[in-house]
Amino acid sequence: MNKYILAPSILASDMTQLGNEIRAAESAGADWIHVDVMDGHFVPNITMGPFIVEACRRATKLPLDVHLMIEKPEQILEAFAKAGASRLTVHVETCPHLHRTLQYIKSLGCSAGVVLNPGTPVGAIEPVLGIADLVLVMSVNPGFGGQEFIPESIGRIADIRKKLDALGSSAWLEVDGGVSVETISQLKEAGATAFVAGTSVFKHPQGVEAGVKALRDVIARVEAR
Ligand code: DX5
Ligand code: ZN
Repeated sequence: MNKYILAPSILASDMTQLGNEIRAAESAGADWIHVDVMDGHFVPNITMGPFIVEACRRATKLPLDVHLMIEKPEQILEAFAKAGASRLTVHVETCPHLHRTLQYIKSLGCSAGVVLNPGTPVGAIEPVLGIADLVLVMSVNPGFGGQEFIPESIGRIADIRKKLDALGSSAWLEVDGGVSVETISQLKEAGATAFVAGTSVFKHPQGVEAGVKALRDVIARVEAR
C-alpha cells in the first residue's frame, strides 16, 4: 500500500460512465475510491446510497471509502457494509453516540472513520481518536464538489496530527474538499496521509490519468525534500 493515499471522489465523475471512470482512476494509480453519500437533510444535496456502492464494488477491487453525510447514519450502516464498503466514515455532528457508532462500524467488518465540518471544534472528536481508524477533516463545507479550499483547515490538520501522534495512533488522517496541486503539499506537510480529490482528478482537462499523476507528483516532490 502507498504511504500516502489518493482517493478520487466519484461525485465529480461522469455518472453515465461510472464503471469506466472508476477503472480509469484505478489504472492511473488511485488507492481508494471515495463515495459521497448525501441525504438532503444533513447537507443540502442528495447523491447516492448502498445501490451505487454495490455497483462500485463490482467495478473495482480497490477499497471503497464511503463518506456518510447523512442524519442517523447508524440506521443504514449495515446496508453499506453489505454493499461492499471498506471504510465507513460518519460525521461527529450527526452522532450523539459517536463511540458506540464507531464500534458498531468495526463490528460490521469495516474500518471506522470520523469526520468533522470546518465549523466544528477539533475537541469534538478527541474522545474517540483512540478507536478511530481514520479521521477526516473537511476543508470545504460538505454538500458539493468543486468548492474553494478553506485555508484554516491546514492548522486543524496539524492539530489533529499532534493528537494522533501523542496517542501513538496509526489512523489515517484524511482531508476532503478543494484538494489540488496547489493545496496538497501544505496538507501533506501539516500531517495528512490520505487525500480525497474530486474535481482535480475526474475533471482534469487532460483526463483522469493526468489528474492522478499530477497529485502523485506533488506528493513525491514534497517527500523528497
Ligand atoms: C464534499 C464531498 C467531497 C467532494 C470533494 O461534500 O465530501 O468528497 O467530492 O470534491 P472536490 O475535490 O471537487 O472539492
Ligand atoms: Zn467526501
